Amino acid sequence: MFDLSFLEPERKTLKIKKAGDTILETALANHFPLYHLCGGNARCTTCRVFVTHGLSSLSERNDREKTIADRKGWPKEIRLSCQTEIFGNVDVQRIIRDEEDLKTVTSETKSSKTGEECYAAILFLDIKGFTSFTESSLAYDVVFVLNRFFQEMSEPILNNGGFIDKFIGDGILAYFFLDKTKLQSSELSLEEAKKQMFVQALRACFRMFDQLQKFNSYVKERFHHEFEIRLGLHAGQVIYGDIGHSDHKSQTVLGDTVNVASRLEALNKKTGTRFLISDEIYKYISDKIQIDKKILTRLRGKTDKMAAYSVLGFKEKDTILELQRSLELALHLNPNLARDFYVHFLETKPEFQKFFQNTDMETQAKKLLAMFGRTIERFGNLNQIHNELKNLGKMHEEMGIKVTDLAEIAPSLLYALEKSLGERFQTEWKPIWEEALGSLVRLMSF
Ligand code: HEM
Ligand code: FES
Repeated sequence: MFDLSFLEPERKTLKIKKAGDTILETALANHFPLYHLCGGNARCTTCRVFVTHGLSSLSERNDREKTIADRKGWPKEIRLSCQTEIFGNVDVQRIIRDEEDLKTVTSETKSSKTGEECYAAILFLDIKGFTSFTESSLAYDVVFVLNRFFQEMSEPILNNGGFIDKFIGDGILAYFFLDKTKLQSSELSLEEAKKQMFVQALRACFRMFDQLQKFNSYVKERFHHEFEIRLGLHAGQVIYGDIGHSDHKSQTVLGDTVNVASRLEALNKKTGTRFLISDEIYKYISDKIQIDKKILTRLRGKTDKMAAYSVLGFKEKDTILELQRSLELALHLNPNLARDFYVHFLETKPEFQKFFQNTDMETQAKKLLAMFGRTIERFGNLNQIHNELKNLGKMHEEMGIKVTDLAEIAPSLLYALEKSLGERFQTEWKPIWEEALGSLVRLMSF
């Protein structure tokens, strides 16, 4: 595998666990100090590095990094560690090394964002049962578990085009916003764009409940504890900007929409529900979701009553959630799925064997799984993975594997999925997977 070297204060070389790990992940896994104040969300820029060697072994800038780099006018050598994936040997220098450097960054960001207004869906999440866990646990465990929880819960938000505004105590405030520039250049009407945004936000919420199950089996085993979550989702105009003390500003969404979302989340306690959306969202997507309760309520501080809906799931199966759930279940039932795939692939397509003559197939299977896991998880926001897939496509082309060959993996992948899932394989998963592989190959080819 490859090396990542930090050149200061003296050369320190770190081993990369797997291709596609980010610079930040590699530094953290090796306990190498690298500032990452926003937690790897492309917001703070404290993780930026200067690449002195191996620029072509790094993923191209994704949309999040590109936005910052363009705004700040960075040369191509300056990269955000938290967004940049490694596919070869690389040498870098940290830019923010000490508290003095950090102050400079804080003052840079001070002027970077004045107030803006936009239409957004605001999501509030709170954990139920965290206080009792805090009272009965060591401080170290509390922080550890909470960080792990935030990590697991943030993924669906980021993977479906959302942003984390902040972590508040044991809760999360996140938002999905309508990008005016993208809307102008697309064929979508405003109504369609809102619908699309709500479906993405809801998908993120449903995926959070999936993540919670995984998280619970983890904390149950180690800490004999389980948690529940409560979500509130509302939409409307919000104000967005850097807010706070001059030395401690952070990007924040503000306005009545945010207050209503927070109150909806809290209302769950009273109504015994776990996920409430407002009528503003319901009116756009009532045909798409299953609800089990309509609640008429007067929220604190409001004179008019408003309707809230307790949501169970999508009415029809959502392609992306089905992909994610079927892969997760298949891997749970058969951790050797990728190995089974390669055995079938090379048996049924012996003409491809020559490409793998010097390949350690165990490692290759792990790489394929890691790549599939990452890609399928981000299917709700394809922009995030396009560059990685394009690079992968280029790599295959350089090995002499044609674009038309790529689709050849489909029958073997479906075979491995069906075999792993056994009786739990659902026939409707077949066309969904075929379609997804089609998109994957398309993204790899241009
Ligand atoms: C959609 C289709 C495919 C996907 C998603 C895919 C994915 C991958 C991934 C993730 C890697 C590891 C890259 C790394 O080292 O970082 C890889 C390597 C490779 N793939 Fe594919 N692949 C596809 C199709 C194919 C096909 C059809 C062949 C036919 C021979 C092939 C042959 C190889 C070879 C030879 C390697 C390098 C193995 C080595 O490192 O020794 N791939 N592929
Ligand atoms: S950690 Fe904040 S931008 Fe990378």
